[in-house]
Amino acid sequence: MSANPTAVKQKPNWLIEMLGSTIGRKLMMALTGLFLILFLAIHLAGNLQLLVPDEGRTFNEYAEFMGHNKLIQIVSILNFAFIIIHIVVSIILTRYNRTARPVAYAYNRASANSSWASRNMIWLGMILLIFLVLHLINFWAKSKFGPIEEVVYEGRTYHDLYAIVKMEFANPLIVGVYVLAMAGLAYHLLHGFQSAFQTFGVNHVKYTPIIQSFGLLFSILVPLLFAAIPIVMYVQSLL
Ligand code: HEM
Repeated sequence: MSANPTAVKQKPNWLIEMLGSTIGRKLMMALTGLFLILFLAIHLAGNLQLLVPDEGRTFNEYAEFMGHNKLIQIVSILNFAFIIIHIVVSIILTRYNRTARPVAYAYNRASANSSWASRNMIWLGMILLIFLVLHLINFWAKSKFGPIEEVVYEGRTYHDLYAIVKMEFANPLIVGVYVLAMAGLAYHLLHGFQSAFQTFGVNHVKYTPIIQSFGLLFSILVPLLFAAIPIVMYVQSLL
């Protein structure tokens, strides 16, 4: 008796199934987004050390620790993977939304139904992507592959990453790009938090307002502090 080939069932691949459904894609966006939000908070705490008035010693020692710690190296690989997943899934979601409704509603006042940030999420994301590529070329690539000067503190040699950041932020054009990109980041985070709450179905009389207030505060404060770093360092370069 020959087996019926149509009866042979393929084992479902959870990743393909997840990417195949709208809720799966939204869940991927929300989960990777939350990880990236955590990264931003840690990255900000590290970068604020650039403002310690010791000619970069605190920051360089911190960067050296981060660059050589095995756990941080694994988190860094995950971070890059999540950035790529977040971008690819966002493009798939946008394409799906457009093909699902190729003809616009006869009456659709978009501004009354959704926020500016939510309608322009993909463009805000694209601006952030361009910022990120330039940012990684300027800082991350130089810290990993050089050229980079060395500095000695108490007999130990460190990469002088501070000198690279100081040189970049002495350029008003670069400072301007950072400040604009951080305004884009604020909008992106504002909508990102809201979307993630919707995806997770956050709906609690007591906790929802607290979580929403936290999202609002984070979306404004974190980009503001990031933007303050190049501004302060630029002013310092003039003194
Ligand atoms: C004033 C603002 C910022 C400064 C001074 C800054 C500085 C730096 C520096 C010095 C590095 C290299 C660290 C190293 O390799 O040891 C780095 C890496 C990185 N930055 Fe920033 N950054 C800023 C804002 C941002 C923002 C807003 C984002 C995201 C939207 C971002 C994303 C990244 C990523 C993904 C890396 C690579 C991290 C890794 O190795 O895992 N940075 N940044």
